[in-house]
Formats: sequence, C-alpha cells, structure tokens
Amino acid sequence: MNVADLQAEVLRLKKEKDVCILAHSYVAREIAEVADFVGDSFQLSVKAKDCPQKTVLMCGVRFMAETVKILSPEKTVILSAADAGCPMAEQLSVEIVEQARKMFPGCAVVAYINTTAELKTVCDVCVTSSSAVKIVSNMPQDKILFIPDCNLGQYVKSQVPNKDIRYMQGGCPVHAAMTREEVLAAKAAHPNALFLVHPECVPAVVELADFVGSTAAIMDFAKKSDAEEFIIGTENSIVEHLQYDCPGKMFYPLSKRLICMNMKLTTLGDVANILRDGRGGEEIVLSDELIEAASRPIDAMLAFG
Ligand code: 13P
Ligand code: SF4
Repeated sequence: MNVADLQAEVLRLKKEKDVCILAHSYVAREIAEVADFVGDSFQLSVKAKDCPQKTVLMCGVRFMAETVKILSPEKTVILSAADAGCPMAEQLSVEIVEQARKMFPGCAVVAYINTTAELKTVCDVCVTSSSAVKIVSNMPQDKILFIPDCNLGQYVKSQVPNKDIRYMQGGCPVHAAMTREEVLAAKAAHPNALFLVHPECVPAVVELADFVGSTAAIMDFAKKSDAEEFIIGTENSIVEHLQYDCPGKMFYPLSKRLICMNMKLTTLGDVANILRDGRGGEEIVLSDELIEAASRPIDAMLAFG
C-alpha cells in the first residue's frame, strides 16, 4: 500500500473508532500528517486533558502516554510502540530522589516531565522545556532540586539566578551528545544561519545559540523570523517539518546524529495496525494510587504554567 492510501485508511479508522492521535513533533512526517494534534511535551499534556475522544493513541514515548493516562484516567491510552522509552526518564530512582531531598532540606523537587509515573510521585511539580523557566520563577520556594536533566537545570538556573537551584547528573543522551565543535563547524558551513537550540543540550552548546527553546518554540521562532537560514539544534524531524512548512527558508541539522531512536520506533504501518485490529502498541495501565500520586505534580505544572 502506498503512503497516501495508508494515511487515508488511518484517517478513516480513527474517525470510525473515535480515537484521538496525539504525536510528539519528533515523529516522522507521515504520522504527523494524520495526527489530531502535533506538538511539544507541554502542548501534548494540555491536549490530553481536552480531547473529547475516549481513546488516545500516543505516537511518542512512554512517559508521554503515561502523562495522558494520569491526566485522563477514564480514557483508554495506547502507546504506539511498546518499547519506545525515553532513557532520561529512567535515569533516577525514587530512592535516589528521596535521599537527595534529605540532603537539601526544605527544597522543592522540580521534575522534568521526562520522568516515569513512579518518579513523579516523589516530586512537587513537573515542568517541560517550554514551561521550566516560568514555573521555577513563579514558585514560592527559593531552594530547588531540579531532576533529571542537569542541562535543562543549568539553563533554568542561568535564567532564574536569584534562586538556589541544584541538579543531579542526568539528561537526554541525544541532545547531550552535541558538542561546541559541531556548532562551530555548522556555523562555519552556514555563516548566515541563525542557530536555534533545545535546552537539553550542554551549556557550552546552548551559549552559542541565537535562540533557546522547546521544539514548539524553535518552530515558532523559525516561522516568524525574517532570517532565511537556520541551524537546528534539536531532533532532526524538526528540520524536516520546518522545511515543509517554510519552503522559502533553509534549515540545516546541527548534526546528523541528532536522532532519537525511540521516537522513530513508530511507523505509519504500526498506527494503521493498532487502529485496524489492535495489533501492536501497548495499553497503558496504572493503578489508581499511582495515578493519584503522579497527578499532583502534573496538576501543579498546569496550574503554574
Ligand atoms: P519538548 O517537547 O519539551 O521540546 O522536549 C523535547 C524532548 O526531548 C521530548 O522528549
Ligand atoms: Fe528522551 Fe531525548 Fe528522545 Fe526526548 S529526545 S525522548 S529526551 S531520549
């Protein structure tokens, strides 16, 4: 079957079966085109609460599907690829966070949303890359333990210097692998391009940027900017989406290595199989107690953000 026919089948089936397809913007173009909503982690959390359908198919990674289930426990939530995890989400254990909290008495534990449902139960508020600076600034507490992404944590600290922000060693292996040398080489190859970067990159990379933001913020900046060329310092699907959306501009990947294998585990064929006869994917099942405990920091995020 060709891609257009498969996409037509997906569009027909999702309507027939009353399924909302949510997709993170790191998924492939042909999936993004048939989704009900495509966005960054924060936008997906908001949509998860709002969508009227009883079933949500999350094309992304596990913590995103868990977040949908936590926010809408009455819905059936399916993760498009059962083995699509986020390595960062699994870097810290509940015990380590509890120990760290004791070593920094009186702190608020701020968790990047890229964490397991279990880890969220011992955190005070979740943030996403688009809301972290705003939420940490607005929180009443001055002592912040930021987990698990030390790069996003350091970026937040640079933007909110009046607070005592500590972080632990953790982060996104895809973004954190980018180097200052790669940025300098990309800038030398494209001297007229603006460099737009995700705050999951290391500070030595982030400090060379013309703009720092979440995936949605990077896309928004590039679309509105008068500049014509951009080096994109986040997952390479964003380069592809922007090139489709802005044919008059040129987009260059910071590195061909900027690919999240977990986000690429879902194919359009997987989406069609799940909708057709429930083949593949995994229904997210969380206990009522886990949902209740993990929803507190997510609700706090939505209230602050
Ligand atoms: P955002 O969706 O907040 O930009 O985060 C990117 C990411 O790495 C998601 O896993
Ligand atoms: Fe996790 Fe990084 Fe992939 Fe995002 S890009 S899902 S943080 S590994």
